[in-house]
Amino acid sequence: MTEPKPAPPAARIRELRETLRHHSYLYHVRDRPEISDELYDRLFHELEDLEQDHPDLVTPDSPTQRVGGAPLDAFQSIPHTAPMLSLDSAADVPALERFDERLRKALGETVSYVVEPKLDGASVELVYEAGLLTRAATRGDGRRGEDITENVRTIKSVPLSLRTEDRAVPPLLALRAEVIMNLPAFDELNARLLAADAAPFANPRNAAAGALRQLDPKTTAERPLEIYVYDILAIEGRPPPTQVETLEALREWGFPVSQWCRPAKNVEEILAFHSEMEESRDDLAFEIDGIVIKLDDVADRDEVGATSHHPRWAFAFKFPPRKEVTRLLSILPSVGRTGVVTPIAFMRPVELGGVTVSRANLHNREEVARKDIREGDRVRVQRAGDVIPQVIERIEEPGRKRAEPWVMPSKCPSCQTPLLERGPYTFCPNLFDCQAQLAGRIQHLASRNALDIEGLGDETAVLLVREGVIDHLPQLFELDAERLMSLEGFAEKSATNLVCAIAEARETELARFVYGLGIPEVGVAVARELAGHFRSFEDFRAADEETLQSIDGIGPKMSEQITNFLARPEVAVVVDELRSFINPAPPERAGEALAGLRFVLTGGLESMSRGDAKKLLESQGAKVVSSVSKNTNYVVAGENPGSKLERAQTLGVDVLDEAAFRALMNDHGTDVP
Ligand code: IVH
Repeated sequence: MTEPKPAPPAARIRELRETLRHHSYLYHVRDRPEISDELYDRLFHELEDLEQDHPDLVTPDSPTQRVGGAPLDAFQSIPHTAPMLSLDSAADVPALERFDERLRKALGETVSYVVEPKLDGASVELVYEAGLLTRAATRGDGRRGEDITENVRTIKSVPLSLRTEDRAVPPLLALRAEVIMNLPAFDELNARLLAADAAPFANPRNAAAGALRQLDPKTTAERPLEIYVYDILAIEGRPPPTQVETLEALREWGFPVSQWCRPAKNVEEILAFHSEMEESRDDLAFEIDGIVIKLDDVADRDEVGATSHHPRWAFAFKFPPRKEVTRLLSILPSVGRTGVVTPIAFMRPVELGGVTVSRANLHNREEVARKDIREGDRVRVQRAGDVIPQVIERIEEPGRKRAEPWVMPSKCPSCQTPLLERGPYTFCPNLFDCQAQLAGRIQHLASRNALDIEGLGDETAVLLVREGVIDHLPQLFELDAERLMSLEGFAEKSATNLVCAIAEARETELARFVYGLGIPEVGVAVARELAGHFRSFEDFRAADEETLQSIDGIGPKMSEQITNFLARPEVAVVVDELRSFINPAPPERAGEALAGLRFVLTGGLESMSRGDAKKLLESQGAKVVSSVSKNTNYVVAGENPGSKLERAQTLGVDVLDEAAFRALMNDHGTDVP
């Protein structure tokens, strides 16, 4: 008996889907289209029309269903099928050699690797159940991510259902992949954003991550994303025994797999691949920031295992930072908050791996002399660690007349006090009266890790000093809204907000206060150590060098700097006055699981009031603030959230719904019903 034939529309729908799926695969994954775009579109419309007439025949994996569904209110946090660990990485050959040696020691001399380009995008998990894409998530904290299924479905090279032609489909398959935006698409997107007066993305990675975190999948669909799959996170059934076979299986299931991946037997072959990729780097249509080396044999991987955050069987060998050549326009001394005067190079703007660079710190006068850098020179710049620009060297220009060597001025450019020298450094000794230092100190005291005064950044600090509103640091706590309102850029609301924020900041923790004083050498970590040790500001202030040195991480140099600073009469005056406004609390002994994280609450929560949620968060050391900025770590969005939610999404801030918020608190040992 043959099966009864399906009704004609059903058969045609099935046929169209298969044809479209196949040609979409040839186009987006294999990059080898066999039919014209027009024919594809015609078939697509035929399918759309048929589905419209027969809505009961629509299936979620139909090519017409990539962009579906209404915009979301917030992303749900979902657990990964298996942890998404990070990668151990380094940019130097000895580190790579150590990685190889460790594995040879553990597994014997016969180990073999697969090398792959390290794509600079956003890491995601894809889950296929019975061959259908059922879930996709951001990496998140490695254990849980955000449910971005609807957005990932819009990526044309992501199969909505696995190909079955060459390989059987496992009941469950969880994969790890990188979503990227290629450079032409990135440039085009930025041009579009600029034309619409919106902020452009700094690099393709941010653009890809931003596209994945749009609440409306239609917006994601408009941003051309690509995906490359490189790892099986979990599989029900027999996993391919090697990485080579894994990549093969992934290709057969219909995924894009980087064409550059290949086996490598030893460090020499790894280095050869590294140089090849580095040379090709500028010709590729997408950004890579290194290569990844993986043990080929999956059983070997299990044997060497993983640390709590990265597997021992994989290693990222990063490229050295990007370099470019540009012209140095001028060198200007800049007075920092501790009085150190730093020469800053101003350069003709230049693109370094997606970021425009126009200034760089030249550190000190000896550095300028050693590199013999003068105004007007051609210089090579790089972004170290891919972030901070540096001038590496000057480039000879035979026959060109150069400017005179640069000299550090003898007086402070801000307050005219004669400058002092300490080793290669130059500094202004006028700690609290030098305007540049005062502005720096205000800004430091107000900064996120110090008193964390919202609305008091760089520009405001400079304004307050320049306009003569503050000429003595403690006056910060006597600011009144009326005076502020007379300043440019302040209205009644912003002025009162700032005054309130300053008043709130008077209740702070010891570590924040100690850090906020801007004592030379005392960063956040040291301040925390000091606060934990002394538990009272007066005890810290009275400590001698010996006592200080008994604390973990504090050596003779640091203890000397601390005692010298605190012993200066002008410091004592300022500190006494600050203490009359601020009474810092000793650190809590427990419940600091969320220390340093900033939350914003919006909308109504069902299980508790916003006030209770705030208390709960604060009990774990989190800070609850009222407006969303890029420094916000989480926005908790309840019922009917306001514009804060939108702002969080625009800025790419993590959004937690009530369930995710409760889960987070429970994870940190706070029992929430
Ligand atoms: S393997 C546990 N392979 O690089 C090992 N990662 O800086 C899983 N990445 O978070 C990672 N290309 O998002 C692997 N071919 C590749 C990769 C790759 C890019 C990303 C990945 C990871 C990040 C670490």
